[in-house]
Amino acid sequence: MHEANRLKRLPLYLFTILDELKEKAKAMGVEVIDLGMGNPDMPTPKHIVEELREQAKYGINHRYSRPTDDVEKALKKAIADWYKGRFNVDLDPRTEVLPLIGSKEGIANFCLTFLNNDDIALVPSPGYTVHFNGPIMAGGILYSIPVTKENGYKPDLKSLGREITRMAKILFISYPHNPTTAIADLGFFQEVVEWGKDKDIIIAHDNAYSDFVYNGKPAPSILQVKGAKEKCVEFHTLSKSYNMAGWRVGMVVGNANIIRSLEKTKSYIDFGMFRPIQLAAIKALTGPQDCVKEIVDTYRRRRDVFVGGLNKIGWNLDMPQGTFYVWAHIPPKYSALTSMEFAALLVEEAGVVSAPGTGFGEYGEGFVRFALVEPEDKLKIAVERIKKVLEIES
Ligand SMILES: Cc1ncc(COP(=O)(O)O)c(C=O)c1O
Repeated sequence: MHEANRLKRLPLYLFTILDELKEKAKAMGVEVIDLGMGNPDMPTPKHIVEELREQAKYGINHRYSRPTDDVEKALKKAIADWYKGRFNVDLDPRTEVLPLIGSKEGIANFCLTFLNNDDIALVPSPGYTVHFNGPIMAGGILYSIPVTKENGYKPDLKSLGREITRMAKILFISYPHNPTTAIADLGFFQEVVEWGKDKDIIIAHDNAYSDFVYNGKPAPSILQVKGAKEKCVEFHTLSKSYNMAGWRVGMVVGNANIIRSLEKTKSYIDFGMFRPIQLAAIKALTGPQDCVKEIVDTYRRRRDVFVGGLNKIGWNLDMPQGTFYVWAHIPPKYSALTSMEFAALLVEEAGVVSAPGTGFGEYGEGFVRFALVEPEDKLKIAVERIKKVLEIES
């Protein structure tokens, strides 16, 4: 059996690499502290779980979900209302909102919807995996734009040549940014929308971490920019803010034509979400929001413990401004190693799993990413173990 060529063009998947690293460590009898995947460790808030339990009792909820059903309509309205409350963005729930089976699914199908094999997707690198794997799987052309600390991890769009922007159909951006933790203000989004005005390019903003900022200023939506709906869509998710990663609830909002086309693709591929999950998602979006604050505060404490601890042992890192990750340059002592080699060393010598920077694209080399998905006491142990690795005599 020969896999399709599109699969051959994909890089090795990040989480496959991580699973292999973990297996290796376990085989060595090491008790692993897993900071590899951004997979929230805390449970979904009780009132949301309760709604799922309740709704799962009713046979009517076990059927296929259809876009014309009351439940799906109610979820679209809950998303639109949440956007109004959270970002003061007005959305028509009928045309400008589409629930997704997780935003990852939505982004992959979005690429399938718009990219021909001579269309470019402009993708900042490093970046979240599906932003670059989605275009490859769809058969499009990936054009990586390096983002570095020097430019605040923002793509320099003005430096792109006309030949490239003429062929480009999609631009991905995502702030707060996984993996670098950079944040963006509305001014940045205004610049991006302005840049896109005279171009035939869809601007797709992935706002998965909008709740995870630590400077006291709420992260904006790109749709707050005047006129943004002409070219922009925004992906979002309940996975992080409500610890609902396994439930698979995401959404895309914004330009109605783009959303209609994505809905068309999805109608050929999936049947939407299990209805009790949709009803529980409505509970999450419309119910008490103090749970979100508690979740974000927990990550903030973890960040302080972990990054504070690493700084104390001489691994000088910037305090993450957003997300629940730590983007760490390879310490000078190990600078000859690739990010993959250094991540393997951390597993073998410290039993700590991190994600190698190249898993986030070619410009992720020189870094590893830690996800703060273990409690504070485990993070303290991780720091102690990493200390020993940094102290090894060369
Ligand atoms: C930037 C970004 N977008 C999307 C996702 C995926 O979210 P979902 O669970 O909705 O598919 C992640 C998950 O880590 C992410 O980091």
